[in-house]
Amino acid sequence: TQRGDGGNFDELIEADLRIEPRDQMPDDYRQTLIRQIAQHAHSEIIGMQPEGNWITRAPSLRRKAILIAKVQDEAGHGLYLYSAAETLGVDRSELLDKLHSGRQKYSSIFNYPTLTWADVGAIGWLVDGAAIMNQVPLCRCSFGPYARAMIRVCKEESFHQRQGFESLYTMSRGSQRQKAMVQDAANRWWWPALMMFGPPDTGEHAGDGRTAQSMAWGIKRFANDELRQKFVDMTVPQAQKLGIELPDPDLKWNEERGHWDFGAIDWDEFWRVLKGDGPCNEERINHRVQAHEDGAWVREAAVAYHEKQQERQQG
Ligand code: ACO
Repeated sequence: TQRGDGGNFDELIEADLRIEPRDQMPDDYRQTLIRQIAQHAHSEIIGMQPEGNWITRAPSLRRKAILIAKVQDEAGHGLYLYSAAETLGVDRSELLDKLHSGRQKYSSIFNYPTLTWADVGAIGWLVDGAAIMNQVPLCRCSFGPYARAMIRVCKEESFHQRQGFESLYTMSRGSQRQKAMVQDAANRWWWPALMMFGPPDTGEHAGDGRTAQSMAWGIKRFANDELRQKFVDMTVPQAQKLGIELPDPDLKWNEERGHWDFGAIDWDEFWRVLKGDGPCNEERINHRVQAHEDGAWVREAAVAYHEKQQERQQG
């Protein structure tokens, strides 16, 4: 099958070729992508809040400049992703309405508070680390606009992950209080970071997950548990380098499996957070709605400008 000539959906998927916006696609495929890309976009912009919280209190000019740039990158990721979603025939204002009214989700992780400066490092190290593990395979997603957006997003996320680790590494070689802050941040972020990969694919806590269908469509390339295991395997040696202990007594190298075993995840907590009962859900949405209302004049001005340009062209 050649690209650029329309093409049959099943053949394109079978041949592992990209589906482009003007191709025919099953409605369920379209709806699954809209849901996932919108949720991803919402996560990027809601994710600006926990870190934005520390911009005025960053400990040095250098750290402040890095943090401002990083938070701005997250806004940019949101924009690429809303644009990718729009190629599926939805409007971003509709998606934002759904976010604001709780009809679409954003990642569970952004409902946790950033209590100390070390939390900013922990977000880079663990949250962005988990995000990359999940998003690198999305660069090979069957839907072209999403896959292409993910390439740049992943490059920037890798930089974010490194800066988070470097910040914690610096603190871990500092005073006793700084080391304690790093340990405390890791204690609080470790389990929620593992939950980012979504519910298990099998066992008593598995929901009627979307993984099998999404894998058949080439949207997801790995199951949630596979990516979670890869993340644990990648992160344990990094924790050792920081000289901290991850808060899991069951974490143990399994020679036979060639992987780290880890303890049970509190899935009740995950579902509670998804239902709106996490530590910061209300604060995040209220803040987001307020920012949207405060920005109304910018949207009005942009529309007025566009209309004026059109009138000029016509006149
Ligand atoms: N936070 C919130 N909701 C979640 C999470 C999570 N961490 N994990 C799973 N869910 C939701 C799913 O959206 C789905 O809900 P729905 O059926 O009501 O829409 C339900 O839990 C069941 O999960 P899955 O069947 O595993 O759903 P899915 O196939 O969509 O997989 C995953 C979830 C892995 C998060 C996938 O959507 C994905 O890869 N998304 C893109 C990456 C992304 O959104 N990252 C955002 C955080 S990273 C960052 O912004 C820095």
